[in-house]
Amino acid sequence: MMSSSAQSPEAGTSRRFLRPFRGEALSPPPIWLMRQAGRYLPEYQSVRKSAGSFLDLCYSPKLAAEVTLQPIRRYGFDAAILFSDILVVPDALGQNLRFIEGEGPRLDPIGSAMGLNALDPSRAKAKFSLVCETVDRVRKDLPDETALIGFCGAPWTVATYMIEGQGSKEQAGARAFAYRDPEAMARLMDILVEASIEYLDGQVSAGADVLQIFDSWAGSLADDQFDTLVVRPTRRIVAALKARHPSVPIIGFPRGAGPNIVHYPLETGVDGLSCDTAIPLQFARHALSGEGIVIQGNLDPLLLVSGGESLDRKVRAIIETMDGAPFIFNLGHGIVPQTPPENVEHLVALVRG
Ligand code: CP3
Repeated sequence: MMSSSAQSPEAGTSRRFLRPFRGEALSPPPIWLMRQAGRYLPEYQSVRKSAGSFLDLCYSPKLAAEVTLQPIRRYGFDAAILFSDILVVPDALGQNLRFIEGEGPRLDPIGSAMGLNALDPSRAKAKFSLVCETVDRVRKDLPDETALIGFCGAPWTVATYMIEGQGSKEQAGARAFAYRDPEAMARLMDILVEASIEYLDGQVSAGADVLQIFDSWAGSLADDQFDTLVVRPTRRIVAALKARHPSVPIIGFPRGAGPNIVHYPLETGVDGLSCDTAIPLQFARHALSGEGIVIQGNLDPLLLVSGGESLDRKVRAIIETMDGAPFIFNLGHGIVPQTPPENVEHLVALVRG
């Protein structure tokens, strides 16, 4: 891979964020927030403008490192998350991707505008190495006590965008594609599994000390499809990463999975389970007790917009529910752009008591 941050075996032992993964229940719990870098921060807006397009920002190691560090400077979170996007993988494989202002991502859909054979894993490395350079830069500039989270989208969630060509409400096009042509779907999953392994491996070699796999659309699948398209591909990624980097914890985020959150971590081998807002934390805690799974979550991002007494009450309730268990405080989904930055500051102070 590229020149790594050359972490000594001792490096990072002071990182509080990693202790829940050794079974420790910390009070206060470590905290970071999904989408902690982004449009709600004026300093992000300013770098974003100077970068040109969103993808240019993702592929500019200097600027991407800067926006990764912004929320750490402002709030002192226990972990930074690499600034990039889950759709970097299809882009790196050669599927044309652009982001339309105010609308979101657009790709030439697989299955109609573009065939699976046009995807070219051999060319992915060039773009992945730009992202790994961001990781390397961030690690060098981060305070030693702050962990760095690398990430990718899970194959199913990434495939929904590749097949539909954009975000969709129920991923009906992608689910129908999987029923209609299971062989093509399996090939697409294989390509994404392999690419994700290389991508995450590169991020760890460049200095990421935790990984998160985002499966934002796990909740739209029927039970048997959940097994084929969420559990199995994720298990392959986790197994390959564990073989190469046994000490790097992996967090899974199967959003909307409902009762499947119990067998998801046990079958995939992830070390942490990020719970969405609908999961009662006491259910997750008790259903997984004794399994050594770190629970993360799950404040509603909209409470962070509205603030006030109801925010305070819910934050206290989450902390109380998870008291005595290995836990990481987070949202149940990403921060939304309307979030007042001062509410985030208030949240961090509240969690830290
Ligand atoms: O969390 C972080 O701070 C790290 C960066 C990060 C981004 N996207 C930056 C981003 C991460 C981890 C993601 C993950 C991601 N991207 C997911 C999974 C998590 C989730 O939210 O469910 C998904 C589904 C995507 C795909 C994606 N990227 C969409 C649908 C959009 C458009 C909608 C939107 O929020 O604008 C994006 C764009 C995007 N990714 C932005 C950011 C900061 C906004 C782009 C801008 O600045 O104009």
